[in-house]
Amino acid sequence: MLTLRNVHVHHGHLHVLKGIDLHVGQGEIVAIVGANGAGKSTLLGTMAGVYAPTEGEILFEQKPLPYGKAEKIVDQGICLVPERRQIFDSLSVRDNLLLGAYRRHRRDGQEVKRDYERVLELFPKLQTMLDRPGGLLSGGEQQMLAIARGLMARPKLLLLDEPSLGLAPLVVKEVMGMLTQLCDQFQTSMILVEQNVRAALQIADEAYVLERGQIVMHGKAAELLADERVAEAYLGAAGRR
Ligand SMILES: Nc1ncnc2c1ncn2[C@@H]1O[C@H](COP(=O)(O)OP(=O)(O)O)[C@@H](O)[C@H]1O
Ligand SMILES: [Mg+2]
Repeated sequence: MLTLRNVHVHHGHLHVLKGIDLHVGQGEIVAIVGANGAGKSTLLGTMAGVYAPTEGEILFEQKPLPYGKAEKIVDQGICLVPERRQIFDSLSVRDNLLLGAYRRHRRDGQEVKRDYERVLELFPKLQTMLDRPGGLLSGGEQQMLAIARGLMARPKLLLLDEPSLGLAPLVVKEVMGMLTQLCDQFQTSMILVEQNVRAALQIADEAYVLERGQIVMHGKAAELLADERVAEAYLGAAGRR
């Protein structure tokens, strides 16, 4: 459903992505793992229209993506859940959730209502805190809220930027466990960007390793998890979390 061919991205003079080739199939969970500064967020941001490629092409459902046009890309069914969640602290959980559907309200109010109910079924914890300001939620709860808000946009492809960042190990397990369930229930594909390499490879189908703006390894997530080079470089102290 999504194909990148030879994608280059610059931040000013900085050449951050250097010829990325990547593919996401229908219903797949694809992990992109790599160290801090490798270019992971830039890559997701490019798919979401925050940045535009300086070379190469991105095809979504066989058509070129409207590069750099974030709202058009949301309308086509790609939704980014950004790093550090970006929950609105002073808005209630309910309003944070409904904001996820802000592009849709006028078109399909009834559907939005149904999705709101489905999302709360998937995240029953949120149901109990609908009136609470987003800023008072724990890190794990905020992450759930950010993902739930993403689902309110009815994405065909959900882009998650480091959902495990700053969460305690047990909470990481809980969030990761939700992700597979969510892809099945909402029939979305997912790109999961993580520095927590082990957690990501455990739930992904395919995986890519990004180093300094280039894909250095690609394969089945299970194969990468068993690969000695991956273990040595990424499953040390940081990967074991
Ligand atoms: N908006 C930006 N403007 C300028 N430089 C940026 C911007 N975003 C990221 N960078 C730089 O691009 C490189 C890759 O960053 P990033 O994509 O955030 O990597 P990662 O998510 O893998 O940590 C880093 O050197 C970072 O400083
Ligand atoms: Mg990042």
